[in-house]
Amino acid sequence: MENEKFIIQGLGGQRAFEGKIPVRGAKNAVLKTFAASLLFGNEIRVDNVPFIQDIANMNELLRHLGVGVERIEEKSFVLNSPDAIGTDLCGDIAKSFRSSIVLTGPILAREGKVIFPHPGGCVIGERPIDIFLESFKKMGADIDMHDRQYVISADKLAGAEIVFKIPSVTATETLMMTATLVPGKTILHNVACEPEIVALADFLNTGGADISGAGSHTIVIKGRDSLLKSKEPYQTPPDRIEAGSFAILAAVCGKDIEITDCKPDHLRVFLRTFDNAGVNFETTENSIRIKMSPQLNAINVKTHEYPGIPTDLQSPLAVFLTQASGRSLIFETVFESRLDYLSELSRMGADVMICDPHRAFITGVTPLRGREIESPDLRAGLAFIIAALVAKGESIVHNIHNIDRGYENIEERLQMVGADIKRI
Ligand code: EPU
Repeated sequence: MENEKFIIQGLGGQRAFEGKIPVRGAKNAVLKTFAASLLFGNEIRVDNVPFIQDIANMNELLRHLGVGVERIEEKSFVLNSPDAIGTDLCGDIAKSFRSSIVLTGPILAREGKVIFPHPGGCVIGERPIDIFLESFKKMGADIDMHDRQYVISADKLAGAEIVFKIPSVTATETLMMTATLVPGKTILHNVACEPEIVALADFLNTGGADISGAGSHTIVIKGRDSLLKSKEPYQTPPDRIEAGSFAILAAVCGKDIEITDCKPDHLRVFLRTFDNAGVNFETTENSIRIKMSPQLNAINVKTHEYPGIPTDLQSPLAVFLTQASGRSLIFETVFESRLDYLSELSRMGADVMICDPHRAFITGVTPLRGREIESPDLRAGLAFIIAALVAKGESIVHNIHNIDRGYENIEERLQMVGADIKRI
């Protein structure tokens, strides 16, 4: 709800939390799979779905297009796309979250037309959609603009060879889905390699799609002229951003914390950085255990497309760096405005020097002080919760609907390891 807030009592720099904290299914995987339901001629089942606001928004959009969406178990949904689907994405909802853009490809491929507003989401930079528009054009579509809505239409789409100017995650997923139902061969160059893209390609392939190369920078799709037929449920992979954020929380507040139901393999470069910073951790195939470290050391953090350090972990890492000894550099390479939250962190006591929109120095160790703060976006919102748990005294975090967009019942899971956090 819009006016809810978190009241948090911080540890004042103690490392006291203990226990297990489970990771949910990946938001940025499951949203694309829900969109992929439009490519199937039969019902699809999706398991390990996190109960978050972005999923509720996606379901509303899908229902508006005519898709049957049913939650059959706590974490499982079935989605059933009708013979004819709508072509108009409902403006207000589509504008509220970035993933709405991934619906455009399947709708265009099926109906030859799609109308949609510029997608919203976290305010972390300009977030253009030129790669989507140029790629649709290459496949034979016309692009128009009416009443601030994009109108994309095509009498006939055909496979094409497309070179992305930047390896965009959602553009890779959208074009992969579009090309699945477009006759001919599509080759996508300079695409993103995130594990969520591989999971989507694998799922589409089990339904009869012909996609190769997902997980590399070139993906080849041989289009089909009929809808896919789902044979197996989609298992949502664990959320690597949630796992990484919990690992950071454990390093700065934990005595002994085990992060369960995750895939450390998806966080290799991040964990390598943790190693350099002196974090005391061990991993199994599906867990990360973090014990108290004698000292955390300054490190340089450069965000990068997968398999590099995810931009979505940049703000929690900044909190980590306030507790690491020495001067660290943060270099945000993916988005334009993703350091804005640092001014709030410095008001909590962090020693931050912003050099330019992409780089900042953080010098630690500094004690943090509890404050009243606004969550500016999903990831910085969780970073503020971690900062508030490190800090001395009480913090109040407002705007938590931003945090609910991507983290299921975050306070309940933090309470499991001893955090004093209440939703009011
Ligand atoms: N870009 C363009 N033109 C485009 C598309 C992207 O120039 O048409 C640029 C962006 O401005 C940015 C860069 O490409 O500078 C990379 O952005 P990308 O398109 O990869 O980001 P995205 O697909 O919009 C997804 C995640 C983000 C995550 C980024 C990077 C979803 C729904 N969102 O966004 O997640 O930060 O990839 O990994 O999958 C979040 O979950 O909080 C979040 C922001």
